[in-house]
Amino acid sequence: MASLAERWGIHPDQYWLYGRPVEEPVRFDEEMDAWHICGHAEVLEALSRPDAFSSETIKLVPMGAEESYTEGDLLQTDPPDHGALRKLAARAFTPRVVADLEPRIDALARELLDAVDGQDEFDLMSALAYPLPVTVVTELLGIPASDRHLFERWMTGMVEEMGDLSLADSAEDQEATFGAAMDHMRRMLDYLRDHVAECRRAPRDDLLGGLIAAELNGRRLTDNHIVNFAKMLLIAGYLSTTMLIGNTVLALDHFPEVAARVRADRSLMPGLVEESLRYLSPVAATYRATAADIELGGKRLTPGKMVLVWFGAANRDARVFPDPMAFEPSRSPNPQLGFGRGIHFCLGAPLARMEGRIALGRLLDRFPEIRTDPDKPPAFMAAPDTTGVTSLPVRVTR
Ligand code: HEM
Repeated sequence: MASLAERWGIHPDQYWLYGRPVEEPVRFDEEMDAWHICGHAEVLEALSRPDAFSSETIKLVPMGAEESYTEGDLLQTDPPDHGALRKLAARAFTPRVVADLEPRIDALARELLDAVDGQDEFDLMSALAYPLPVTVVTELLGIPASDRHLFERWMTGMVEEMGDLSLADSAEDQEATFGAAMDHMRRMLDYLRDHVAECRRAPRDDLLGGLIAAELNGRRLTDNHIVNFAKMLLIAGYLSTTMLIGNTVLALDHFPEVAARVRADRSLMPGLVEESLRYLSPVAATYRATAADIELGGKRLTPGKMVLVWFGAANRDARVFPDPMAFEPSRSPNPQLGFGRGIHFCLGAPLARMEGRIALGRLLDRFPEIRTDPDKPPAFMAAPDTTGVTSLPVRVTR
């Protein structure tokens, strides 16, 4: 049987998805002027050394980004500032907060599926996988429902533009691509700035209200901190969850015997979500900047270079995952790296797991059969550091 990647032609650069083993766990790419880290052990080592692998990668982009875009963004912050900011952010994601969201997410999933009930064919992404996570994250931020579509547009626009950004391009080309992505970003930031100002005028008891009242190192957060924090949640929490839902449906379609097992035994659901994150990791890669002389995987890395840390490749490492091409929800242990590792480990992981479990559970409850449509293949995200679909036409039975 052809692999899932071959069947749909997913990013050929991510050759590990086609079953080809990674030959060099750490490799320098002359054309990109960047390192690739692909081995599971090597990825873990890099993520455990924020002193040598800095998250403040924006400094390596030729035009550089203004400080004002990154302050308050955990994903662009190194220790020691990262620790204090993360502690503050973690208050928004206590197990209690996440558990309280469950009935709302469940109701949302049902409502969205009600809207396609009666149809034999629909696009899974626009029916469920886009609207569910964007609703959850915008509700967390207290953004009115009527403005939700704006975020869908800005976020997908940004991801698509950044997908065209290649470190191998000339500085001018990089600047043009980056500029186009930043246009979407600026519109989103302008909106969030007005929204934060509104929250200051009329204080409220929600996540943003909490941040407005909170202190970081003894000082109140600035509007810019809060705006960037909200931007980070939108970037980190929305499309990755969308991709998780789409990817799992795609995998269940490709492995119908697994779908039958999961339908018969719902206790496999949490394992299904973990295996989906391993098999088709939405955040296929993250970025770091070398900040010290360091040896990794037998190579010498020097400061000031971009590093692509490939979760997707590490998740197919046969040294850690026996039979990595098999899609096995009962795989145990399953030390998949889809949520990253170390100090930047995904803060929203419990929420994302719950959203995935509920969305997929409701789908399986509603439709006894869900299959891809051979006449309408799924379309994949263009960004080479993501693995996920933008459209996924399905045929269902009721
Ligand atoms: C960080 C993946 C959903 C919030 C990360 C990282 C990964 C990741 C790989 C680490 C990035 C790095 O080390 O550079 C995912 C995936 C998700 C998901 C695959 C869905 C399936 C969410 C959700 C939220 C969220 C729903 C919140 C609404 C965050 C935050 C960070 C983060 C705040 C930054 C943590 C830090 O830097 O300390 N995520 N994420 N994520 N994620 Fe998620």
